[in-house]
Amino acid sequence: MENKRIAIIGCGNLGLSILNGLLENSTISPANIIVTKRNTSSIVYLEEKGIRISSDNVQAVKDSDVIIVALKPYNILEVLEELKSHFNVDQHILVSLATGISLKQIQAVVSLPIPIFRAMPNTAADVGESMTCISSNTTNDEATELVQDYFNSIGETIVIDEGLMDSATVLGACGIAYVLRFIRGMIQGGIEIGFDAKTASAIVTHTVKGAAELLIQRKEHPEYEIDKVTTPKGCTIAGLNEMEHNGFSSALIKGIVTSYEKIEK
Ligand SMILES: NC(=O)c1ccc[n+]([C@@H]2O[C@H](COP(=O)([O-])OP(=O)(O)OC[C@H]3O[C@@H](n4cnc5c(N)ncnc54)[C@H](OP(=O)(O)O)[C@@H]3O)[C@@H](O)[C@H]2O)c1
Repeated sequence: MENKRIAIIGCGNLGLSILNGLLENSTISPANIIVTKRNTSSIVYLEEKGIRISSDNVQAVKDSDVIIVALKPYNILEVLEELKSHFNVDQHILVSLATGISLKQIQAVVSLPIPIFRAMPNTAADVGESMTCISSNTTNDEATELVQDYFNSIGETIVIDEGLMDSATVLGACGIAYVLRFIRGMIQGGIEIGFDAKTASAIVTHTVKGAAELLIQRKEHPEYEIDKVTTPKGCTIAGLNEMEHNGFSSALIKGIVTSYEKIEK
């Protein structure tokens, strides 16, 4: 891992989040990372950290082993078309972050049997807490382990079948927005019952973090932890049931399915 050279092609929002995660990993030398953008003015500061920046994608491919393509879905295939003659089957591993672009589509452009991965992180990558779902066209365990190691630098990873990649987009990437909207609603409720926005926000965000940590660490079903909080005839169950009467879980499930249908072709 430490000797591998990494290119991030299209270093925008997500590319930068991944870069920040990789830089936290002491086994990866900044000198082994090259990042590209057409207009590099916004990332010039990265040079101070020892990272190479460039607008030359071809050079980046030639100078790297693992190529993370963080381009938008609309131009990823076009850029890969320009780069394909520079891929080397004994050298390169390709990772695409583009939503909705299949391994088959990428493979058709690359037309070389290099390991190709799709990774679906979320924006919590910025704080090292992304859940990244990964799928691939390869049985090369070493390549899979390497790619997982990189994405473990920005949080946790799960390897899934490619057929579930759209579902991963909804639950993991869109999921961040659903949870943030839930948090906003709780803060609004907190203000109505007496807290100022800042205090309500501190209480809610830490409560949400604690609830998630309970499930992550104990691996119990949410209802098991809910049962511990719901005193018979108490205020928690009354509030929860009122939320359910108003379609709380149903709204969430319907929203998830609607997002899924929107990206399903
Ligand atoms: N945001 C999420 O939650 C999320 C989650 C999972 C996956 N994704 C996927 O991640 C990808 C990137 O998303 P993003 O939000 O990071 O987009 P973004 O901020 O727009 O980043 C894309 C970058 O690519 C650069 N670029 C465009 N054409 C280029 C070219 N020919 N050569 C080199 N660089 C080029 C752009 O900079 P210049 O214009 O300067 O070239 C831009 O900074 C998308 O495919 C998205 O579907 C996003």
